[in-house]
Amino acid sequence: MAFRARHLLGIDHLAPPEILAILDLAERYVELNRRTEKRSDALAGLTQINMFFEASTRTQASFEIAGKRLGADVMNMSVAQSSVKKGETLIDTALTLNAMHPDLLVVRHGASGAVNLLAEKVNCAVLNAGDGRHEHPTQALLDALTIRRAKGKLQRLTVAICGDIAHSRVARSNILLLGKMENRIRLVGPPTLMPTRVGEFGVEVFEDMKEGLEGADVVMMLRLQKERMDGGFIPSEREYFHRYGLDAEKLAAAKEDAIVMHPGPMNRGVEIDGTLADDINRSVIQDQVEMGVAVRMAAMDLLARNLRAERGRAAAGVMV
Ligand code: NCD
Repeated sequence: MAFRARHLLGIDHLAPPEILAILDLAERYVELNRRTEKRSDALAGLTQINMFFEASTRTQASFEIAGKRLGADVMNMSVAQSSVKKGETLIDTALTLNAMHPDLLVVRHGASGAVNLLAEKVNCAVLNAGDGRHEHPTQALLDALTIRRAKGKLQRLTVAICGDIAHSRVARSNILLLGKMENRIRLVGPPTLMPTRVGEFGVEVFEDMKEGLEGADVVMMLRLQKERMDGGFIPSEREYFHRYGLDAEKLAAAKEDAIVMHPGPMNRGVEIDGTLADDINRSVIQDQVEMGVAVRMAAMDLLARNLRAERGRAAAGVMV
């Protein structure tokens, strides 16, 4: 089998065949999810715990629905941001949960690297549902599936990722995934919202939206992450919309059939015009949400197969 990983912590560690294995299996779950009876038993008997140390609507709901459709016992542990401020506390929480023998642990945390650290301490498969500014692998995978279905391919496309790149784990995971698949990536936004070592990413950088969107196949907008800002990154939201907010006029620079994406939650009238976001001829934002459930089902299914195989080998006394 192409997919051999024990955890899904980031796109960084995935090889292109592993990415394609997830997307191909997800296609089958898209079909299942459109039926009236949506049951599979891929995770039957397994316990899935969702630990969200940061607020989330669609990602948490998506992981919960995905686990339930696959027959897992799903438990949501909603942790208030304020109750977990120290590394020790996070590890203690993880060890406590570990003692309850979960099989899949889905974790979102505000600190970059926290999920990787946790994965070292537990005996189950860990899925990163977003850690700080670091990675958000299932988001990049669901974006890739959405692009592949809309464009019929996942290579040699020009993808413009626009807005608050500096604070975005979505941007980082997408840059890694789309880069591995040999696409042309453009980052578009004000210099204050560009990561410092942007030159190392193998991307083109633009300050002007129309220049950056010229001839693009995919326009991916990002939320202005106010909660991760601590200073004057933008002059005002009105000014930001004027220069960087996606509307029909700026989109006209992209290809005629370019698709518009946004991971949500959206700030309408800040990074994207509300009418454009709702335009079903251009926007695939709702498709992204649909693909999210299918991709998470596929990722958990593949991790569970590896986990069962690993435990089977250990039980048989074979060296792993
Ligand atoms: C993103 C996240 O939390 O990283 N949202 C999501 O998962 N759908 C993007 C964001 O918060 O802007």
